[in-house]
Amino acid sequence: MKDLHNREIKSLRISITPQCNLNCFYCHKEGHNIDNNKLMTPKEIGEIVKYSLKYGINKIKISGGEPLLRSDLPEIIRNIKNLKNNQIKDISLTTNGILLEKYAQKLKDAGLDRVNVSLDTLDPELYKKITGGNVELVKRGIEKAVEVGLKPIKINFVVMSNTVGGLNDIMDYCRKMGVILQIIEFMPVDEKLKKYHYDINKIEEEISKKSDKTMVRKFMQNRKKYLVDGLEIEFVRPMDNTEFCSHCTRIRLTYDGLLKPCLLRDDNLVDVLTPLRNGEDINKCFIKCIDRRELYFKE
Ligand code: 5AD
Repeated sequence: MKDLHNREIKSLRISITPQCNLNCFYCHKEGHNIDNNKLMTPKEIGEIVKYSLKYGINKIKISGGEPLLRSDLPEIIRNIKNLKNNQIKDISLTTNGILLEKYAQKLKDAGLDRVNVSLDTLDPELYKKITGGNVELVKRGIEKAVEVGLKPIKINFVVMSNTVGGLNDIMDYCRKMGVILQIIEFMPVDEKLKKYHYDINKIEEEISKKSDKTMVRKFMQNRKKYLVDGLEIEFVRPMDNTEFCSHCTRIRLTYDGLLKPCLLRDDNLVDVLTPLRNGEDINKCFIKCIDRRELYFKE
């Protein structure tokens, strides 16, 4: 189904918990007072995804908080994988990687296709400062994911004034590991964080000079892909980007069961979990959500 701006709906991004085992200084920290009754069960998640298929969803991304904090994640993945008439061609997970070493094989066995791992620096001290965690665990998680074949693996590298200095190290690391590097523009979530913003256009210029060839990904926000000595690099630029909106094919589902038409808005969510629990038909929720999709950044 297309929305009012002629955009197909293809991808559903599901947050399965607001809880996290890191404490990144730039994070919103949404939903700290978590009410467990509000968390969707694996069965409910499967049910909601089943309905979403009708509207054209063929890609699922699972995120959090930190999704690996839910021990029933393999069950969630299996429930999605085992749906009838399943047109889903890609189930991926966004994780901070801290618990990945332990779970990579179980996730692979459950049917997960691939992972995105957040890694803003390889410097143990800076990593600790940014996230409060231990970067060695993340590196072990990435190694394990490579070993069990959760590929293509992507590293999410958020460029900030304090992480940009590590770009070359991250590039070397990704090349060595055979993983894709996603260079992400930092979105300051409040005024105080504005000083960390770094213009990634400068980086893209440099990379494009060194790049063997440029491939434009037509299917997703016209993101450009570069290849530098065998390393694949992508740029993600959500800020003030009209292309970001005009090519958006995503809807989201919050951990407490609300359909979210736009990443950047919190005032137009549609409760799908309550109607589901009341035994109502939830098609109307999807239609309402898709109808509420607007262009956040307009030309
Ligand atoms: N700016 C840009 N990207 C962010 N992420 C989280 N917070 C921000 C932010 N303020 C992205 C990172 C991380 C993923 C979970 O979300 O890419 O890897």
